[in-house]
Amino acid sequence: MSITTLGQFIIEKQQDFSFAKGELSRLLRDIGIAAKIISREVNKAGLTQILGEYGSVNVQGEDVKKLDIIGNETFIWALEKGGEVCAMASEENDDMIPLMGAYSKNGRYVICIDPLDGSSNIDVNVSIGTIFSIYRRISDQGTAPTLADVLQPGNQLVAAGYVVYGTSTMLVYSTGKGVNGFTLDPSIGEFCLSHPDIITPEDGKVYSINEGNAGEFPQGISDYLKWVKETDKATSRPYSARYIGSMVADFHRNLLKGGVFIYPPTAKSPNGKLRLMFECIPMSFIAEQAGGISTTGKVRVLDVEPMEIHQRVPVVMGSKNMVNKVLEFMNK
Ligand code: AHG
Ligand code: MN
Ligand code: MN
Repeated sequence: MSITTLGQFIIEKQQDFSFAKGELSRLLRDIGIAAKIISREVNKAGLTQILGEYGSVNVQGEDVKKLDIIGNETFIWALEKGGEVCAMASEENDDMIPLMGAYSKNGRYVICIDPLDGSSNIDVNVSIGTIFSIYRRISDQGTAPTLADVLQPGNQLVAAGYVVYGTSTMLVYSTGKGVNGFTLDPSIGEFCLSHPDIITPEDGKVYSINEGNAGEFPQGISDYLKWVKETDKATSRPYSARYIGSMVADFHRNLLKGGVFIYPPTAKSPNGKLRLMFECIPMSFIAEQAGGISTTGKVRVLDVEPMEIHQRVPVVMGSKNMVNKVLEFMNK
């Protein structure tokens, strides 16, 4: 048989990590399990109203929860039970969550997650995602985890990835040795290697930005947006605008086809909207590992020193030549 499951792939790659004694492999496996559970819930999202016809309680008498909460709880459960992670930071929680299970309190890793990215698309059956990043803990094993464990810059990442719940469910991740993508085969309940060694095109024709905010953009971005609409055969312009409003889905399309994703500072949000720890760092890691670039406009996203868990940063990421073109306009 020619398929390689996520589990098999992780084991095959375990030897890449001299420092890892199987813990990272088990952690990635736990993330895969959480992703499958969330995928199952996402696929019946439209049914929750029916299942929960008695107000907020479904026919089993359980509370009908929002997918953001289901995603968050699923990760907390999978990681606490898995035992490799001592603390988690989540977009859904104000503070760091110490995982004090019998094994997890001694875990050697910490994780940051956006359990459900693109929440506004849930109710309209449009692609959404999950984003995760993994760091080695700084505090001593066996002690209580500290904020410093989760507040690490992207250049300290051990691994990161995302799950996109789209026409199919895909898990894409990197441990710093390239990017690989796995598609969930629901008939066997396994993620199977479908996109080995993803390299993003150096150029593309797609730009992704919420142009509704155009009146609030910095001049450089406005000038760039004018430029992309001009006709020029040599540079394949005009470009195409594509913006789903789920960063994971927008990013994933651009990763495979080439493109640039921009969430710039706006008058209302001078640091942009997207969160450094939960969205920008992990996606920047994947972008770079696939041969792309990711910057705040001033510095490499992976070099930003995080000051707080829910910090926001502007971001320009994607195909090398396209990001550089945006920077050219921003620096004029
Ligand atoms: P989340 O659903 O996790 O809060 O993230 C939504 C984010 C991101 O997915 C998307 O790219 C962006 O918000 C869209 O924001 P705008 O509606 O301001 O364009
Ligand atoms: Mn998000
Ligand atoms: Mn979210």
